[in-house]
Amino acid sequence: MSVRARIIGCGSYLPERILTNAELATMVDTSDEWIVTRTGIRQRHIVAEGEKTSDLGFKAAEKALQHADIKARDIDLVLVATTTPDNTFPATATKVQAMLGMRDGAAFDIQAVCSGFVYGLAVADNFIKAGQARTVLLIGAEVFSCILDWKDRSTCVLFGDGAGAVVVRADGGHREGAPNNAPGILSTHLHSDGTLCDILYVDGGPSSTKTVGHVRMVGREVFRHAVINLAAIVDEALEANGLTRADIDWLVPHQANKRILASTARRLGLPYERIVITIDRHANTSAASIPLALDEAVRDGRIQSGHLILMEAMGGGLTWAAGLVRW
Ligand code: UT7
Repeated sequence: MSVRARIIGCGSYLPERILTNAELATMVDTSDEWIVTRTGIRQRHIVAEGEKTSDLGFKAAEKALQHADIKARDIDLVLVATTTPDNTFPATATKVQAMLGMRDGAAFDIQAVCSGFVYGLAVADNFIKAGQARTVLLIGAEVFSCILDWKDRSTCVLFGDGAGAVVVRADGGHREGAPNNAPGILSTHLHSDGTLCDILYVDGGPSSTKTVGHVRMVGREVFRHAVINLAAIVDEALEANGLTRADIDWLVPHQANKRILASTARRLGLPYERIVITIDRHANTSAASIPLALDEAVRDGRIQSGHLILMEAMGGGLTWAAGLVRW
């Protein structure tokens, strides 16, 4: 029987600069009232000049290592989920690896846009179960501000920059197949539907335009798919573990729109207070949003040992994913 993978530490980092809705309203034809009502966003963090995805990821990683009480030399796999890498190559994961002073182990990036962190959790979980890694540093880091069209009010108000990280480690004490009240990653569930790639995408890239491009989104369509897909994947994750909606202690969702979060909670019959919400302060930080929210709720004591945590996300691709974790 393979070992179970367990999250043993987390950390996060947000750039210092805060951009409020009121400031945005001086840049494009929008208002604080529209943004708050339609999305729940009040502000977002934006990087300083020269601050890169690897810088954010490294700062979050340092805190996660400290929280897990391990050293960089203990890590054998570095994963960075990002849509906004420092460079087209090398992988931002290798940059963070270098910043951590590591010269060994493996490092690569994961591209599943806003679902990237949960996709990364699946990769970490499966590498550990397969015995190919023992301690994985998984980071979600984004400088989304660099791919926004700051003249397009339908997208530029929605996103922010930030990073979150977790350390996932093989837990020799609990084997795979252990009861679902034993700590660790219970399961991960990944989906994608590439036929929907043109409702949320970036209009540039190395092999198409040879430019970086900007985010384009048919918001209403993405919203519709998010509500349907997230409800389905939540049930899929619970059923796979013989659990019910009533067993969930905390929903730690990707933060795209407060109305999507409310709809998921309603469908789950979960009290709104059981959702970890950061969208009001962070906006949508894509692959960073779940680890940022997780770190906040762990550090302020909401998430306690033994709690059942459900993570879910949907993003460009379309990709959508869920992970169930017993803390
Ligand atoms: O993280 C990846 C997944 N992403 C998501 O899940 C995002 C999903 N989509 C959404 O969250 C929502 O669709 C948005 C927040 C993007 C948009 O909200 P909506 O209620 O779907 O608005 P809409 O796109 O239907 O636009 C309604 C109106 C339009 O005006 P008209 O055509 O009705 O006159 C837009 O032009 O709001 C207008 N509008 C704005 N007005 C003020 C769009 N953006 C803005 C803005 N400020 N920033």
